[in-house]
Amino acid sequence: MNNLNFLFTQHFGDDREAFTARAPGRVNLIGEHVDYNDGFVLPMAISLQTVLRVRPRADRSVVLYAAEFDETKQFSLDGITRQETWIDYVQGVAVELGRAGVALHGFEGVVSSSVPIASGLSSSAALEVGAALAFLHGAGQTMEPREVALLCQRAENGFIGVNSGIMDQMAVAACRAEHALLLDCRSLDMEHVPFRLRDHSIVVTDSGAPRELASSAYNERRAQCEQGLTILRDKLPHLASLRDLTSAQLTEHGALLPPIVLKRVQHVVGEIARTQDAVQALRAGALAGFGSLMNDSHASLRDLYEVTSAELDWLTDWARAQPGVLGSRMTGAGFGGCTVTLIEKQHQDSFIARLPTEYKSAMNREARCWICEAAPGAQVL
Ligand code: GLA
Repeated sequence: MNNLNFLFTQHFGDDREAFTARAPGRVNLIGEHVDYNDGFVLPMAISLQTVLRVRPRADRSVVLYAAEFDETKQFSLDGITRQETWIDYVQGVAVELGRAGVALHGFEGVVSSSVPIASGLSSSAALEVGAALAFLHGAGQTMEPREVALLCQRAENGFIGVNSGIMDQMAVAACRAEHALLLDCRSLDMEHVPFRLRDHSIVVTDSGAPRELASSAYNERRAQCEQGLTILRDKLPHLASLRDLTSAQLTEHGALLPPIVLKRVQHVVGEIARTQDAVQALRAGALAGFGSLMNDSHASLRDLYEVTSAELDWLTDWARAQPGVLGSRMTGAGFGGCTVTLIEKQHQDSFIARLPTEYKSAMNREARCWICEAAPGAQVL
């Protein structure tokens, strides 16, 4: 019996009617801070995941024991109010599913997650999507991954109040094993790009640094992009979003923008182009080119978008100086959280063996590393 089944039996008894929903974390390979500008992103799901093992209840209560917190939270589907804790993600999803006309039933069970919290690997999207699948399964319904993702994003934007884009929920809901997901954040068209590395690996490193002011700084970046768009529309009325802006147009009209807004817009235009170039490189098997675009992406996030941190800059600089590293960048919203590094497989072990000690002596923080393969998106098992 695995740990989750054991915990279920311990807390809720007979597990004959229980089922399991799992939802992975994600790492974004490239395409950062462009989803809310209608751009392209390239995340992949990782093997760190959130798993719910639950059994339907006859009443309308949801009762969940969270293994990592060793605590049980509950709510009634008929009286959802914020509790300012992790169960809010489940509640927010229930609200949106109800609005979408899904006949919700209560359930009880265990939730356990190996996705580190607040590290930029989408622990919240994993809980949202996992909960959505549990509710849907309990209702005897299925939903396309794209609809699940949109619904969970509405929960995050509305009930939780975090103004995030669509990338995380789409990655968690729709990724496939051995593929990265090229997502057009305007049309939500998806292409599953083969990402099966034979001689290379993806290493994700958690900087262990708190994401200070992450959500206010995130909202500020979004507002700066909108400000840039509004000003540029004066000359370029066809712009529906920064996605439509070419770099030639930005060169021509950039002087209209306040300097800080210009930097933000330069990042967005450059990063959207880089993401498309990176996919070309991947398709051509040109991993060195892919890695160098990862490095460029980090530089742009550091110098133009200004969402890196001393820790993220140190980790990526250190990584680039190691044997076998093709590229390294911050991933996710930034201001702390994780980096992602593309490295030759033969060097990965020495990389992850040395990194924590050197990081500790340079930055006085604890780093954690994971070697990640492209994992499948969320599913009911
Ligand atoms: C967070 C948000 C995403 C995206 C990234 C930055 O992860 O949830 O929507 O904007 O930051 O690329």
